[in-house]
Amino acid sequence: MPGIQIGHAGRKASANLPWEGDDHIVEGDPRGWETISPSAIAFGGGLSKVPREMTLADIERVKADFVATAKRALQAGFEWLELHFAHGYLAQSFFSVHANKRTDAYGGDAAGRNRFLIETFEAVRKVWPENLPLTARFGVIEFDGRDGDTLGEAIALTRTLRDGGLDLMNVSMGFSTIDAKVPWGPSFLVPTVARVRKETGMPVASAWCVDAPADVEKAVAAGDMDVVMIGRAMLADPHYPYQLAIALGEERPAWTLPAPMHTGCHAIVGPARVRRSNPPPAPTSHR
Ligand SMILES: Cc1cc2nc3c(=O)[nH]c(=O)nc-3n(C[C@H](O)[C@H](O)[C@H](O)COP(=O)(O)O)c2cc1C
Repeated sequence: MPGIQIGHAGRKASANLPWEGDDHIVEGDPRGWETISPSAIAFGGGLSKVPREMTLADIERVKADFVATAKRALQAGFEWLELHFAHGYLAQSFFSVHANKRTDAYGGDAAGRNRFLIETFEAVRKVWPENLPLTARFGVIEFDGRDGDTLGEAIALTRTLRDGGLDLMNVSMGFSTIDAKVPWGPSFLVPTVARVRKETGMPVASAWCVDAPADVEKAVAAGDMDVVMIGRAMLADPHYPYQLAIALGEERPAWTLPAPMHTGCHAIVGPARVRRSNPPPAPTSHR
């Protein structure tokens, strides 16, 4: 199924490619552009460009842009749409107490900080067909010492989106503050993901260092999540699902490959290559 994720990078936009620094393009460089965010507060570190505080007209325009993008995605043939509400980008910034200091209807308490996400979701839901999956990736935790409150607010928002027709929540982290102390390690986010699943009763996906065969199997078998997303291992090996299927003893591992490769693949590709038990290094990019 062809899927696409759409988003707005907010105060993290106008940045160099991850493998070329992942930092803001310097002022005066014609490749850069003005960034916008709920409040005029920079992320910090290599992303220190101060964004312009969005006006109410900006908010309406960006919501309309999400809708227009969703329509184009449908016309282009995509069958799964995901809204990028995570990783310190624009929507996450509205939710975040670190990035959102607004005093109008789009800031303040959780209801105010949720407003942009709910309105954007509802507007996209109206134009995305009911019979095709609409999901969101959302940072439910920052690892910043405010985690109980953030998670409680995130679970409440997830329930609202669920009731509005969200099909699956792709649970991630906020990355809204450079002071976060993320406890990197195999499956470190799984307990948080499991809690979102339990307290919302909706299907959840997640990622982040869940790619060793036993960890992938356990996350689903234990009922902690419904879908395991695999990032860097897939970038390193596009046939990683095939390797996982072999490692997990699936009867027909070649069925994870495109149809023309169903026959004789074992002999061609060889035995499983996935043997990693140590966590991969912490990512430098949170895109
Ligand atoms: C080069 C690169 C680009 C990424 N781009 C996105 C993105 O556009 N949207 C997103 O939600 N996550 C993005 N991510 C994060 C991955 O989706 C994933 O959450 C992360 O790599 C952790 O999963 P893993 O441990 O399986 O790699 C990106 C990661 C990398 C390494």
